[in-house]
Amino acid sequence: MITANTVAEVRAQVKQWKKEGKTIGLVPTMGYLHEGHASLMKRAREENDIVVVSIFVNPIQFGPTEDLASYPRDFHRDSEVCQRMGVDLIFHPDPEGMYQENFCTYVDMDVLTEQLCGKSRPTHFRGVQTVVSKLFHIAAPDRAYFGEKDAQQLAVIRRMARDLNFDIEIVGCPIVREEDGLAKSSRNAYLNQEERQAALVLSRSIREGKRLIEGGETDAAAVKASMRSIIASEPLARIDYVEIVDGDSLQPMDTINGLVLGAVAVYIGKTRLIDNTGFIEG
Ligand code: PAF
Repeated sequence: MITANTVAEVRAQVKQWKKEGKTIGLVPTMGYLHEGHASLMKRAREENDIVVVSIFVNPIQFGPTEDLASYPRDFHRDSEVCQRMGVDLIFHPDPEGMYQENFCTYVDMDVLTEQLCGKSRPTHFRGVQTVVSKLFHIAAPDRAYFGEKDAQQLAVIRRMARDLNFDIEIVGCPIVREEDGLAKSSRNAYLNQEERQAALVLSRSIREGKRLIEGGETDAAAVKASMRSIIASEPLARIDYVEIVDGDSLQPMDTINGLVLGAVAVYIGKTRLIDNTGFIEG
């Protein structure tokens, strides 16, 4: 397994692989890898000759009051995970290598980024799209793998790839959960024991929303009220949003029909966690 710290190293290696006619699968990550990431690598391993994983805590997707400095990092452990998953190359740049002095070019999007997490994180998706575009140009993958836990991110990246003609297949992979239902997330590392228990309200509310929608409930307000009441029963939880949106445009809907997404963002103590139902037919 190769570890590359510079764009030039990755480019040279990718050029060689392309010359040999190899297909490349890219798994973009911010590190502190867990089983959710491993499932992306496994899928990439199955579908491509070469697997590239990027590990980069992208500063421009964090707001000024967010957790950039404290975001968990453990490169040594991450590279062991990548080795075990049969990764061919880890791209682990430093911020200066990705964003040269006077960097001022961004990729942005309307509509999809104005809902859900975009409301409380107004510059987040611009940062994600910009870094993912850069990674697409650097690693030139045939396929790129993203978790459905970040459903809005997945929808935004799919739309970006379509709108900007990236010739890359965007592959979404199912949420991986702990045995008790909590969606795996690097941010779970922030939770103390009591908060870890309280965090179960996210998956409980998601399960309830899914059950109601699949049972034929079409009133979005009724579904959201049930989901909210589960979260509100937990004193350590503070709701950022509980939403039912159209699966394509991500716009809120009153009457559930067609492809929909139920999504929640909840603060457990100081930690903001998200979860969703996956895209389901309502
Ligand atoms: O999902 C993430 O970890 C990040 O948002 C991504 C896609 C690696 C971009 O920094």
